[in-house]
Amino acid sequence: MSAPSAESILDTELKANTVPGNPLGDMDDWDEFLEGRYKEGKSEAEFRVYDATATPGVAEFYRLNHENQTVAYTLGKEKEYFGLNKGQKTIWEAAEFLNTLVDDSDPDTDLTQIEHLLQTSEAIRRDGHPRWMVLTGFIHDLGKCLCLYGEPQWGVVGDTFPVGCAWSKDIVFPEYFAKNSDRHVAEYQTKYGIYEPNCGLENVHMSFGHDGYIAKVMENYLQDESLYMLRFHSFYPWHRHGAYDHLCTDKDRSMLPWILKFNQYDLYSKGHTKPNMAELKPYYDDLFAEFLPPTLAW
Ligand SMILES: [Fe+2]
Ligand SMILES: [Fe+2]
Repeated sequence: MSAPSAESILDTELKANTVPGNPLGDMDDWDEFLEGRYKEGKSEAEFRVYDATATPGVAEFYRLNHENQTVAYTLGKEKEYFGLNKGQKTIWEAAEFLNTLVDDSDPDTDLTQIEHLLQTSEAIRRDGHPRWMVLTGFIHDLGKCLCLYGEPQWGVVGDTFPVGCAWSKDIVFPEYFAKNSDRHVAEYQTKYGIYEPNCGLENVHMSFGHDGYIAKVMENYLQDESLYMLRFHSFYPWHRHGAYDHLCTDKDRSMLPWILKFNQYDLYSKGHTKPNMAELKPYYDDLFAEFLPPTLAW
């Protein structure tokens, strides 16, 4: 008997999945998938099979993401969240809030969300990068609290991409755009879509997720390099594959090296060593106070 094909493994695994709408065991499954794709350098054929067997929900997750991230959806979510009307919180409160995300993985080996944030920021700090970048490392995934506001996984994490213009072939699992209703809007299917050539990424509507949301929260306080890291850290089609340069300005291009620098820490800094919270807290209290007001609108 021949080995089962990737598709048949996928089919079986997808049917076994029990949570419609939230197919990932937890959001870290997406991060692990990214590590396989970029850190271990898996080929497309390899990561598709790996995905089907090791993290069965990932393909279903991308299917939902690619089908539902339309222009109308994105504009609606921007309207709902970018006004920052979910209340005031300090950074620690936001981090504690994110920590209440329950996941179903092994509590003995898994770190809390705050510990993950500290691993990223501490790795940046160890390498002697500027303090604003350490801060960026700590806050970059705080937008995942969108899940706690009731947003589905596919609307919180996942690779991001511009909506309202042709989808790049460099977006992972591009075949899942087949059922995105924007396919039927002729303007959205052109190279520039609703945008002008080289209009600048600040004028582009990205698929909605934790990146855009945290960048919005921090917009008035942090420098461009930091805001680009926040807003575009999951924009893999651009920062890893060079897609969408036709929408970029020279300013966008000049920010790319910073995003790539940051991406190393996003992909490589996770381990199983627990950061010592009590020891680290005073440093972070100072860091937050240096750049941010005591509480922020979320
Ligand atoms: Fe992220
Ligand atoms: Fe991250």
